[in-house]
Amino acid sequence: MTKIKYLTIIVCLSNLMSLVAQTRMESSLKENDGSQLWLPTINVSKMKEKTPQISYQGKLSKTISIAIFELQNAWRGQPIILEKTRGKKTDGFTISSSERQIQIVSTTDVGLLYGTYHLLRIQNTGIVDKNCSITETPFYELRILNHWDNLDGTIERGYAGKSLWNWSDLPDTLSPHYKEYARANASIGINGTVLNNVNASPEILSDNYLKKVKALANIFRPYGIRVYLSVNFASPIKLSGLHTADPLNKEVIQWWKKKVDQIYDLIPDFGGFLVKANSEGQPGPCDYGRTHAEGANMLAKILQPYHGIVMWRAFVYHATNDDRAKQAYLEFQPLDGQFHKNVLVQIKNGPIDFQPREPYNPLFSAMPNSQLMVEFQITQEYLGFSNHLVYLAPLWKEFFASVPFHTVKAIAGVANIGSDKNWCGHHFAQANWYAFGRITWNPSLSPEKIADEWLKQTFTNEPQFVTSVKNIMMQSHEAAVNYMMPLGLHHIFAGEHHYGPEPWYNMLNVRQDWLPVYYHKADSAGIGFNRSSTGSNATAHYPDSLCQLYGNIKTCPEKYLLWFHHVPWTYRMKNNRTLWDELCNSYDKGVQKVRFFQQVWDKMEPHVDTRRFKDVQTKLKIQSRDAVWWKDACLLYFQTFSRLPIPYELERPI
Ligand code: GCU
Repeated sequence: MTKIKYLTIIVCLSNLMSLVAQTRMESSLKENDGSQLWLPTINVSKMKEKTPQISYQGKLSKTISIAIFELQNAWRGQPIILEKTRGKKTDGFTISSSERQIQIVSTTDVGLLYGTYHLLRIQNTGIVDKNCSITETPFYELRILNHWDNLDGTIERGYAGKSLWNWSDLPDTLSPHYKEYARANASIGINGTVLNNVNASPEILSDNYLKKVKALANIFRPYGIRVYLSVNFASPIKLSGLHTADPLNKEVIQWWKKKVDQIYDLIPDFGGFLVKANSEGQPGPCDYGRTHAEGANMLAKILQPYHGIVMWRAFVYHATNDDRAKQAYLEFQPLDGQFHKNVLVQIKNGPIDFQPREPYNPLFSAMPNSQLMVEFQITQEYLGFSNHLVYLAPLWKEFFASVPFHTVKAIAGVANIGSDKNWCGHHFAQANWYAFGRITWNPSLSPEKIADEWLKQTFTNEPQFVTSVKNIMMQSHEAAVNYMMPLGLHHIFAGEHHYGPEPWYNMLNVRQDWLPVYYHKADSAGIGFNRSSTGSNATAHYPDSLCQLYGNIKTCPEKYLLWFHHVPWTYRMKNNRTLWDELCNSYDKGVQKVRFFQQVWDKMEPHVDTRRFKDVQTKLKIQSRDAVWWKDACLLYFQTFSRLPIPYELERPI
């Protein structure tokens, strides 16, 4: 056993400076360009003023150096001892404090880094108890972002500028943003990133691109982040001219094996592949009469010796007459138990597609013999892009109210990060990135607590600000559901984009399941999609108790009413309003809420720097106009079927 010498390292600032050389943060604050994230600003002059003593026993890895640097920069308390202990390697840590010192203990370097960020979070959001003992262990081992970034710099469903990855400059030029991105992720426990779009270009696996991927992996590694890639199932054909991509073909298997060997040669801790197969035109094993399991297992077996994984997406639907909400279940449920042990089946939270509100995807309760992971969408494809303030933690918690935490092995989030100065397009969209990380670390954290933390670190601890703005955040998802698609309505967006309303959109020769009329089914009798036993019977995919609950119009939760039932316009709701009146009231409520958000924000001017105050104010103005647009478009259109008046007390359509 090697004897580890006890070293006390009074950190030499000049050595560590290189870690943050050229960070955007330092210059940005001087310019006040609005790029502030929740992390402590790197402030070199302050560091020189007050340098707390940090002790560490052992080898000074890059990860530990980062931890020490972060403490030097921002910690304003007792001396700190970082201690690595023996034992089972985990990302967890313990923080214990006394009057004299604070000790952060973990079995891994990255655990010490997480402990460091946690300590700074406590300092910045409250008071560090002089005699505390905190133990944190991440609930999920894999906490991963999915970037839908294309190699040409565009981002599918991205609303925050271009991709962060400057592919044409890589691997020689390394943008300082890469390190800041890694720092932000590490501070909230995110430990994996899929760099490219699920609609994957085969090019990502070319020799040229793999060198670029390696450069990014090298930057992310000290922050505990592993790199993964989305792969195109037809890569052997597209990259090397093989005549097939059949997963049972020997040449194909050999091709993938060589490719995987090459990847691990470059990136020894490479995480694995994410695959969108036989979905929305992507190639896959079904093109050769093979199943999703056969396709996934072929890749999984090749990755296994390297401890790599396959995340195989279950987002599939086809132009058939069957209800789209049933299709992934019908295709994947029979494969339960057939996936190799290093395959995770990645399922979107709802059965259709990241709608403002969906019931949970019933596959989560129907594949007990497979490893499942949930895919959340952080980017607001269906929730106002980066124009609307919508805090997503309540939506994700709603999913976990139906699906127990342990049902899923991991959580993926479709990233909302881009090259915009403020990273996510809307200052408040950063809160969704932050919340995603915190929930993957600890899914039992409440959305309120996460919002509280984020506001205090990103803006100010001023109680009036925190209370008022947290209130906006907490109500924002419900407000968006109300002004867009209340009572279980879904997918009534304009054709071609997913921003504004177009419930009337109907075209000949367009796939039925791409038309809003397919989803709302409004007619003179009523509105909504009958998925009960008298309709598509999608309710049968849920466990018995829920099947009965959702399948009965009387017991179906009203928030899902039009998801599961075609409901007469004059149907009496629980509050005794007719369905039509309730629909009108819901849309109106959504609009009034955004107006309320505007009023609250206007009063926040003294607490926020001018730039961010104005940015948010402008975005709320857009959101408020959009809310009226949604309300008027939907009510006026649906009124052509209901033939009922909009209640007198509500705001008239413009
Ligand atoms: C949605 C989205 C697409 C995306 C797809 C997916 O349909 O609009 O842009 O590719 O989901 O998740 O694969």
